[in-house]
Amino acid sequence: MTPYNSELPFNVPRPRHRAGPPFLSPHRMSSYYQHHVFFCLNQREAGENCCANFNAKAMQEYAKKRCKELGIAGGEGRVRINKAGCLNRCELGPVLVVYPEAIWYTFVDENDIDEIIDSHLLNGKPVERLMVDR
Ligand code: FES
Repeated sequence: MTPYNSELPFNVPRPRHRAGPPFLSPHRMSSYYQHHVFFCLNQREAGENCCANFNAKAMQEYAKKRCKELGIAGGEGRVRINKAGCLNRCELGPVLVVYPEAIWYTFVDENDIDEIIDSHLLNGKPVERLMVDR
């Protein structure tokens, strides 16, 4: 195995299996998934505000099922729907975030999830009305 060499110029490819920190070439900044979606499903103690209190689990399951039905779910270059713990934006919840764009959404029901899937995940057009950062 070739050791990690921090003296190499930034644009020289490193061996795949090396010791040392990850190599972040500006020429290799693509995302493994076309869209990687994280739903916060965090449940707090009774009375505390959290995404789980707003049907987040059912909406994550719905999004996963819908992406499978549409044939866009899968591995590299496809859509991945994941569960997450607290994303530390509880006051805006329920929240989900779509990478690589890092666009945060809130949602109420399946209609909102459908709109995010149809507009953002299928057609690359973020849904402004559901964004938490505008
Ligand atoms: S409980 Fe969902 S962001 Fe904190």
